[in-house]
Amino acid sequence: MSEATTVTSNHVRGGSQRPLVIAIDGPSGSGKSSTARGVADRLGLAFLDTGAMYRAVTWLALDRGVELADADAVATLVTKARLDINTDPLNATIAVDGTDVSQAIREPQVSAAVSAVATNLAVRADLVDRQRAQIAAAAEGIVAEGRDITTVVAPDADVRVLLVADPAARVARRHAELGEVVDAAAVTDQVIRRDRDDATVAQFESAAPGVRVIDSTYLDLDQVIDAICALVPSASKGDPSP
Ligand code: DC
Repeated sequence: MSEATTVTSNHVRGGSQRPLVIAIDGPSGSGKSSTARGVADRLGLAFLDTGAMYRAVTWLALDRGVELADADAVATLVTKARLDINTDPLNATIAVDGTDVSQAIREPQVSAAVSAVATNLAVRADLVDRQRAQIAAAAEGIVAEGRDITTVVAPDADVRVLLVADPAARVARRHAELGEVVDAAAVTDQVIRRDRDDATVAQFESAAPGVRVIDSTYLDLDQVIDAICALVPSASKGDPSP
């Protein structure tokens, strides 16, 4: 797979009318899902949660009893799987082979297993192709978030952001999301261990050239959304000037 696409500018779209693409990467708990959804809603764009695609495949493998360590078996399963994704930021859903798994993919057993799927390179190749197709199909423009959107999936996006936050803030946010019933060790595992595993196949711990870093540790959600919207080239915000 080629990662050689050259990015020339975040602010010039060559006068073409192609839809706006905003790429956001970041580790667990950096707030990228809520941020990407909020940016998409504010700018009237579609929203793609690529992590949900890895989670959906993980749900499928667990449901079918496919051994996650069997990389070939999981890869075969993915190739045959049908994923239906609703990219409305206010009603984002995902179905695999006709079953809506939007809730099920947030269950702890999926969260605990997903890195085994996300580190399967054949799975990644298949899902990256599907993510590119989703981005290309979004006539209204799209905000896509994940771990490798700025670098692999859409390195030519108009706006590329790496959203970071201190580890303590990320663990605290994830804990707040999951609720007090989940113990601190499990949350820390989800955030720190999973990112360490995922970082072996996707480079999201430092910004690639041309990618803007936004540190959300001391920002609220609206402030992060503001910061990203401020990076959007003015022509794509409806400015009629050439
Ligand atoms: O963001 P999340 O927790 O829903 O992501 C689920 C898993 O998928 C996590 O292990 C990271 C991985 N992932 C990835 O490897 N590449 C992406 N573009 C998105 C998510």
